[in-house]
Amino acid sequence: MAKPIARYVCQDCGAVTPKWAGKCETCDAWNSIVEEAPPTAGPGLAKGVLKSGGSKIQFVDLAGSAEPPPLVPTGIAEFDRVLGGGLVAGSALLVAGDPGIGKSTLLLQAAASLAKAGKRVLYISGEEAIEQIRLRARRLGLTDAALELAASINLREIVASLEAANNVTLVVIDSIQTMWMDNLDSAPGTVSQVRASSFELIRLAKTKGFSVVLVGHVTKEGAIAGPRVLEHMVDAVLYFEGDRGHQFRILRGVKNRFGATDEIGVFEMTDRGLAEVTNPSALFLAERRGHISGSAVFAGLEGTRPVLVEIQCLLAPNPGGSPRRSVIGWDSGRLGMLLAVLETRCGVRLNTMDVYLNVAGGLRVTEPAADLAVAAALTSAATDTPTDPGSVYFGEVGLSGEVRQVAQADARLKEAQKLGFETACLPRRVARGNAKLSAPDGLMLREIGHLSDLVAGFAAKHSQRE
Ligand code: TYD
Ligand code: MG
Repeated sequence: MAKPIARYVCQDCGAVTPKWAGKCETCDAWNSIVEEAPPTAGPGLAKGVLKSGGSKIQFVDLAGSAEPPPLVPTGIAEFDRVLGGGLVAGSALLVAGDPGIGKSTLLLQAAASLAKAGKRVLYISGEEAIEQIRLRARRLGLTDAALELAASINLREIVASLEAANNVTLVVIDSIQTMWMDNLDSAPGTVSQVRASSFELIRLAKTKGFSVVLVGHVTKEGAIAGPRVLEHMVDAVLYFEGDRGHQFRILRGVKNRFGATDEIGVFEMTDRGLAEVTNPSALFLAERRGHISGSAVFAGLEGTRPVLVEIQCLLAPNPGGSPRRSVIGWDSGRLGMLLAVLETRCGVRLNTMDVYLNVAGGLRVTEPAADLAVAAALTSAATDTPTDPGSVYFGEVGLSGEVRQVAQADARLKEAQKLGFETACLPRRVARGNAKLSAPDGLMLREIGHLSDLVAGFAAKHSQRE
């Protein structure tokens, strides 16, 4: 047999090169290339050419007779919402997030909740000792849950134990980066180890019919540590995110083979674990102070759920050099566009100002529907005129300054009314779109066709005050 040739694998993107290099040619990452032992060829696999011998596969029709896979709710409603109802038997789920964000806490709570419902749940930790997990369970008040706990990183032992276990509903692996296969010549956390361990666990989940949750760490750049292939191997990927300075945590689906991916789950980290937040709008608006210029409430939508958030903006004069644009929780490219539209189409002078924009509460808004609320916050700051504290805003802004329709206006209006808002500023109703839209009781609709109408409103209010 020919001597195996060493191969070098990028730990960021999984690209394989025959030579070591400081920079990966495929993904441009620096210092990410590590030597790994080559995989041994299986029987009949020579130089990538499959020899004859496999049995034939069966082709079937599209309709079939299979029922959709049953969903097992974990009992943590915010978690189940993101999963699309619950865990799917035989599926693999990746929960990724920064260290210390609360992944282990969330999964211990979910696992205990399932165990309390009479399901068999195995929790395998490669990061913490049994005593540490027990301590956390005590803090969370979960010690009476019949959870089966183990601390191990040895995948051979884990696989053997899982093969022998029956009637298991859920297996939690915390974390996939600590798993180690003794037949591979590389350290835990490397691409080969992560990939091979995940493959084994997912295969086992499919054959034994349990759900497996893999906990994954995220790198400084925000990608799941290990190869991207991990994301392709699992059925669903959830990101647990939030600012460590804030108590809010958001669980966001980025991939789900069994459900929608735009749902979020909102939690609050308390001294007794993660508490579910059933009314996120009230939480995100809790610290809002009315009658301050530069603040506007956006009636947003996260998945199927309307969420109201406060958009804050601060302008500071910068007469000299190039002005700063600092954005937290929104897209800076989008802010640039809005500033240009306000400047060019509406005559609002902002080019000598530093602009700081913040979505209060640590939420990350991705909807273009936030444009109108951001424009309102910017104009309010520029004219030093507070927005009406009883108003919400939504609408997309086009390059000519026109305010465009957005989806699900009625859900946004209903949420605004529920929280006691009095006015909603929204795109003009058109024959095709929200023509039939009617205001919920007690809510006044103010239609805005062009951004200059909004600006004129602020200017009028400003001159009234003088
Ligand atoms: P953890 O679940 O260990 O995070 P991860 O698994 O994502 O690394 O959470 C650790 C943080 O959560 C830690 O900083 C302490 C905090 N925490 C609380 O505030 N309250 C609690 O009840 C628990 C268990 C943790
Ligand atoms: Mg952890």
